[in-house]
Amino acid sequence: MRVLVLAALAMLIVGCMAQPKPEANLFTRIGGLPMLARLSNQTLDIVSKDPRTARSFEGVKMVNLKQSLTNFLCIKTGGSCEYEGETMKNAHADAHITTAEFEIMVEVLRERMDINGVGTKEKNELLKILAPMKRDVVSG
Ligand code: HEM
Repeated sequence: MRVLVLAALAMLIVGCMAQPKPEANLFTRIGGLPMLARLSNQTLDIVSKDPRTARSFEGVKMVNLKQSLTNFLCIKTGGSCEYEGETMKNAHADAHITTAEFEIMVEVLRERMDINGVGTKEKNELLKILAPMKRDVVSG
């Protein structure tokens, strides 16, 4: 009896050890809010000054936009934040963003992820989340 109990216990322990640990969500793996805020701030600082993309940011309160983009990226990567902004379609409709502008912004974000040490897997996951938004952001 004792042997049986011990054997069952051993099987239970081995079984538990064999369970793969569930992977943390992208929000956690990418570095949480500090990393998302850094990526959002740096990307917006660059695209709002780059002559190829600056025009839509004229007159926009950049502090608010940075905060809003950070919260947006937070919820999209699985973090628990409040995003109270517009839909992507409404937020960008008036600016008539072009495909070229969209691609420059994605490229800048990709570079910032590299520079800030985001892993390749996490970088690609975030880009994959953002790519389909092109159809709502671009209307120019
Ligand atoms: C996947 C790409 C993009 C994402 C995820 C994104 C995300 C956002 C978010 C979350 C907001 C804030 C909306 C709100 O608070 O109501 C916003 C606003 C804005 N975005 Fe984007 N954006 C993207 C691409 C672009 C591009 C390519 C440009 C221009 C080059 C751009 C220019 C703007 C501007 C100017 C605003 C402020 C609009 C306003 O306050 O009137 N965005 N975007």
